[in-house]
Amino acid sequence: SEHQTPYDAIGGAELLSKLVDTFYDKVSRHPELAPIFPDDLTETARKQKQFLTQFLGGPTLYSDEHGHPMLRARHMPFKITPTGASAWLACMKEAMDEVGLDGPVREQIFSRLTFTAHHMVNHPHDTE
Ligand code: HEM
Repeated sequence: SEHQTPYDAIGGAELLSKLVDTFYDKVSRHPELAPIFPDDLTETARKQKQFLTQFLGGPTLYSDEHGHPMLRARHMPFKITPTGASAWLACMKEAMDEVGLDGPVREQIFSRLTFTAHHMVNHPHDTE
């Protein structure tokens, strides 16, 4: 219905979990991204599942455990360039394709993630 959250529209925890696992599998093999992420992405994926659950209108799993997301501040220790943001989004797009997330809800989610990914950029130049 029109009152459904994006979280409900994609089928909740099950699809979200598949999406995040597929996404980090790509991140771990991406030449731009792999070097800035930890080798073991288990905890990263767990937190991302919690975050995206609440970002998409589901239960507030991330804030319940970690407090306010303050996403931009939490990303400051990492050098995030425009190229990195594009790479992150490319991995997410491929993951969405692979898990069969499509239709208007996919476009809605992807456009919010595009905005957020660019907001994480904290290092404007790719060559410094
Ligand atoms: C960590 C979300 C974009 C690199 C995280 C965490 C979340 C998150 C929830 C875990 C924070 C915590 O420790 O509690 C997002 C979202 C993004 C985004 C929603 C965009 C829509 C990016 C981009 C990059 C990036 C563009 C780099 C190109 C990282 C790294 C970590 C991290 C390196 C730390 C991983 C770890 O130590 O476990 N992100 N992020 N993120 N993110 Fe992002």
